[in-house]
Amino acid sequence: MDSKVGLSVDQVSVRFGGLVALDRVSLEAAPGEVHGVIGPNGAGKTTLFNVMCGFVKPDSGTLTFFGQKVHGLRPEKLTRMGVARTLQGLGLFPRMPVLENVMIGADSLAKVGVLRALIGAGPTVSEEHRLRAAAMAALDRLGVAGYASKLPPQLPYAIQKKVALARALVSNPRFLLLDEPASGLSEEDMGELGDLILELSSELGIVLVEHHMDLVMRVCSNISVLDFGRVIAEGTPAEVKANPLVTEAYLGDEVQA
Ligand SMILES: Nc1ncnc2c1ncn2[C@@H]1O[C@H](COP(=O)(O)OP(=O)(O)OP(=O)(O)O)[C@@H](O)[C@H]1O
Ligand SMILES: [Mg+2]
Repeated sequence: MDSKVGLSVDQVSVRFGGLVALDRVSLEAAPGEVHGVIGPNGAGKTTLFNVMCGFVKPDSGTLTFFGQKVHGLRPEKLTRMGVARTLQGLGLFPRMPVLENVMIGADSLAKVGVLRALIGAGPTVSEEHRLRAAAMAALDRLGVAGYASKLPPQLPYAIQKKVALARALVSNPRFLLLDEPASGLSEEDMGELGDLILELSSELGIVLVEHHMDLVMRVCSNISVLDFGRVIAEGTPAEVKANPLVTEAYLGDEVQA
């Protein structure tokens, strides 16, 4: 196994009834790089993320994390091993304060913390402190610690997106899967997000699903292009840009520059 490969998907297929959402998809993402996954709506990008973080079990194919076969493992186990993701949209609980929304991303939460508190069992005091401190540190890193006690709907969308990212970072991942982190952001916020992605990529591997091509071309070192569940092209941003199959796949689909 190539030690440079952190997260590897090999010949993965996923069917939903008669629909083939992923058709023998392979992809290798290395730590320290940003790997882009692009493709028209419905191409299978989110489904691929769902496989990579254990939400969806593939019908065939394998998933490997730093040389270890991990397909079929539950999402909590993969989080503990170091795979974290953001959800397309926000995925925040609107009636839960920002800090608790972020605490939910901490790895040990299946056993302790907010979820136990929700069912009335309550975390231990030291565990609660540890979770709060980790969540505050993640919020602080993204410059949004001042919103810890607010409810998500009280905040501008760009701040909510940062909270969602803080939730993914709180588990201290080795790999971060970002599903359309730039959707709904202004040009300025998107520029800031690009800086942040590049900064984070010096510490961890990133797989980025995005429709905003400027951002993708700026931050990714490698890109896989999906169309109808298949990888139709892969390579550097320049190679992918020059590939006529990619232009063809996007014809008729809205590409936000
Ligand atoms: N749970 C599911 N049950 C049935 N079909 C599904 C399910 N999840 C996704 N699909 C279908 O699988 C295909 C791929 O969907 P997916 O959400 O992975 O696409 P995507 O590339 O993320 O699209 P978008 O850019 O719009 O987010 C689509 O045809 C979608 O309708
Ligand atoms: Mg999607």
